[in-house]
Amino acid sequence: MPLNDSVVRLAALGDIHYGKGSQGSYQPLFGQIAEAADVLVLCGDLTDYGLVDEARVLARDLAPIKIPVIAVLGNHDFETGQEKEIAQTLSDVGVHVLDGDSWEFRGVGFAGVRGFCGGFGRGALGPWGEKVIKAFVHEAVQEALKLESALARLSTDHRIVLMHYAPIRATVEGEPPEIFPFLGSSRLEDPIGRFDVTAVFHGHAHRGAPEGKTQSGIPVYNVAHAVLKANYPDRPPFRLFEVKTASTAEPGVTPIADRRTWGRRATDRPPADRQSAGPSNPT
Ligand SMILES: [Fe+2]
Ligand SMILES: [Fe+2]
Repeated sequence: MPLNDSVVRLAALGDIHYGKGSQGSYQPLFGQIAEAADVLVLCGDLTDYGLVDEARVLARDLAPIKIPVIAVLGNHDFETGQEKEIAQTLSDVGVHVLDGDSWEFRGVGFAGVRGFCGGFGRGALGPWGEKVIKAFVHEAVQEALKLESALARLSTDHRIVLMHYAPIRATVEGEPPEIFPFLGSSRLEDPIGRFDVTAVFHGHAHRGAPEGKTQSGIPVYNVAHAVLKANYPDRPPFRLFEVKTASTAEPGVTPIADRRTWGRRATDRPPADRQSAGPSNPT
C-alpha cells in the first residue's frame, strides 16, 4: 500500500456561526483548507440563528470545496426549529451531516452527534426529581447512546468522533465555571473510551482550552473558531492533523503545527517526499 493511502490529513473547525450576510467570508479559509487537507470536519454551530437561509449561504460557500466535508449540528442550528432543513440544505451540496451516523473515508471512520450538556464528573446532573430534570438528563443519555451505536458500526483502524458539546471538562476550562454544566456532558465520554476512539473534535466552548484528554487518555480537541483564533494567532483558524493508519510506523492522530507543511495534502505528495519517510514505513 503506498504511503499516501495510509495517511489522511484532517482539518477541523467549529462554531463558524454563519449569518445571512456571511456570504464569502470563509471562502478563502475553505480554499486554504481544501489545499492542505483531505477531509474537513465541522463541529456544529454552523449557523448563527438556526435559519435555513443562513445554511443556504454556507452551502453556497462550501459547494466549491473539492474535499469531503463531514459535519454535526450545534445548539445554534436548533434555535429556530429548522434543523432538519439546515441538514438537508448542507447535504444537498454534498456535506455528510452526521446525527448518530457514521461515515468512512480511506480507512478512517467518523462518528458524529451533536451531544448535549449536563456537566462533568461528580458534578454531572442526575435523573432525579422533577420530570423536566429527567428529560434534560435523558437527552444527554440519548446522545451518548447514538454515539455508541454510530461507533459500533465502524470497523476501521481509526474511529474519529465529532460532536458539538464537550465530552470532558478539560477543554471547557477558561470559560466561567458557572456555565461548565451547559458546555458538555461526561456521559458522552463513556462510549469514547469503550470504543477506543483515536481522537475527538468538538466546539461550543468559545473560551475553552484547545486540547485535553479523556480519563483513558484519548485526545480531545476543542476546535471552536474563537478558541483557535485566541490560542494560535499566527495560524489560519483551523487545525490540521495527520491520521496515520495501522500500516504506518506511528499510527495515530498528530497535530501539524509547522505551517510550511500546510500547503499540500497528503494525497498530493510527490514520490520523492513519500520515499523520504524512511525504511520503517511500509510502502
Ligand atoms: Fe458556538
Ligand atoms: Fe454552541
